Amino acid sequence: MKITLNTAEKQGKISKYIYGQFAEHLGRCIYGGIYVEDGDIPNVNGMRCDVINALKELHIPVLRWPGGCFADDYHWRDGIGEKESRPYMVNTNWGGVVENNHFGTHEFFELCEQLGAEPYICGNVGSGTVREMRDWVEYMTFGGDSPLANERRKNGREEPWKLKFFGVGNENWGCGGNMRAEYYADEYRRYAVFIRDYGDEPIYKIAGGPNEDDAYWTETLMKIIGDKAAAISLHNYTYETDWKNKGRAADFTEKGYYDTMANSMRMDSVIALHKEIMDRYDPEGKIDLVVDEWGNWFDVEAGTNPGFLYQQNTMRDAMSAVLILHIFHKHRDRVKMANIAQMVNVLQAMVLTEGEKMVLTPTYHVFRMMKGHMDGEVLDISYDTETIEHGGAKIPKVSVSASEKDGEVTLSLCNVSLEDGEDIEISLDRRFKEAVGEVLTSPSMTDCNTFDAPSTVEPKALDVSLDGESVKLTLPKMSAAVITLK
Ligand code: AHR
Repeated sequence: MKITLNTAEKQGKISKYIYGQFAEHLGRCIYGGIYVEDGDIPNVNGMRCDVINALKELHIPVLRWPGGCFADDYHWRDGIGEKESRPYMVNTNWGGVVENNHFGTHEFFELCEQLGAEPYICGNVGSGTVREMRDWVEYMTFGGDSPLANERRKNGREEPWKLKFFGVGNENWGCGGNMRAEYYADEYRRYAVFIRDYGDEPIYKIAGGPNEDDAYWTETLMKIIGDKAAAISLHNYTYETDWKNKGRAADFTEKGYYDTMANSMRMDSVIALHKEIMDRYDPEGKIDLVVDEWGNWFDVEAGTNPGFLYQQNTMRDAMSAVLILHIFHKHRDRVKMANIAQMVNVLQAMVLTEGEKMVLTPTYHVFRMMKGHMDGEVLDISYDTETIEHGGAKIPKVSVSASEKDGEVTLSLCNVSLEDGEDIEISLDRRFKEAVGEVLTSPSMTDCNTFDAPSTVEPKALDVSLDGESVKLTLPKMSAAVITLK
């Protein structure tokens, strides 16, 4: 297959926030996965050193918290002050377990600082009040003399935190209050007024957007909310078949593999659907689309709490992550942030933990390999790929995306075929001194990293030959690769 790379033509920036993460009070994402209080797991202020060190490699740009459905049941005051006096609650959304509120606002900002990630907080519209939300924002971001800012100081934080991203509710069409689109849109208008800008930068308010292809929700928000939001969100998960037949994460057939690839590609049409509506109401593109929940959602692993959404992560997940990240690159004019669900131990996670053990997942590896795209300028590329016809869907055999930042070109490629590799020749329009390649592949589509065999799926160096005017490489079957040209 031939690819023509035209580095002279820059086609717009890939927002770094597309590589964002999401951490909810759900299962073992926060407690045990990120934050530990007892035992011998090395930590700094409760944050697991192994997990933080691994995640730092991803250069996570933004982290969404505390939910998810949990956000609309969360009362921030329960999560500040002396830990022993924080009230506990029942996490009714996720397994009915006791939430002791020991991980709260201060701990979240500490986590973001350790990761070097910007915070994105999702407020409570479903069961919280306007006052509660306005007070939380003042508590976090006001630098002057006020009872709330002084309470923050008393709790150990002198300076206000920098907070740019704030979500006004989560899935308010469902777990966030079962609202009609019109009702939520009016509620949004009211809540948003009281989210004041205390810092130097205005808060970027994100309205709770549609699920999947719910065009009516988007249209209603665009009509009623208009430019009172910086962005609207979109949630679009991928299942093997559908919500009722999610499939198993690490035990699936070739059909299940290709079904998942075909369903991953649906992200393209779902974004296009919402973009068309947004373009009609906002032709200048002032309002962004933030895909703040996406990823593969399979059945929980046998013997685990069904409310904890714990699933393994295989080569299939890595392949679908690359396809979807490329779709976000394609829609870079509207899609300015995306947050994969979720960072640790939940759904399509970056890392899995069990007690003091930790493994990196195949999805982790592609996020690390592709980080050169963050804030890169998309480059013009042309190529013709075969398509794989599967159950009425057409899946591109090879997907490619290229971007440039600080004179370095990042080219990511994936070959979803379970049958054939692909010889690739990339013709270049300028000279590079060096081409470095890395590839993630494995003999079986169900290969994954386990606590007993943590290095089954790992990236390796890829042979790449650079002869001045072209780069040649072979992309193995079922593989993801990143080439860096310097
Ligand atoms: O990510 C898991 C859940 O999926 C989130 O809490 C919710 O917003 C969505 O339905």
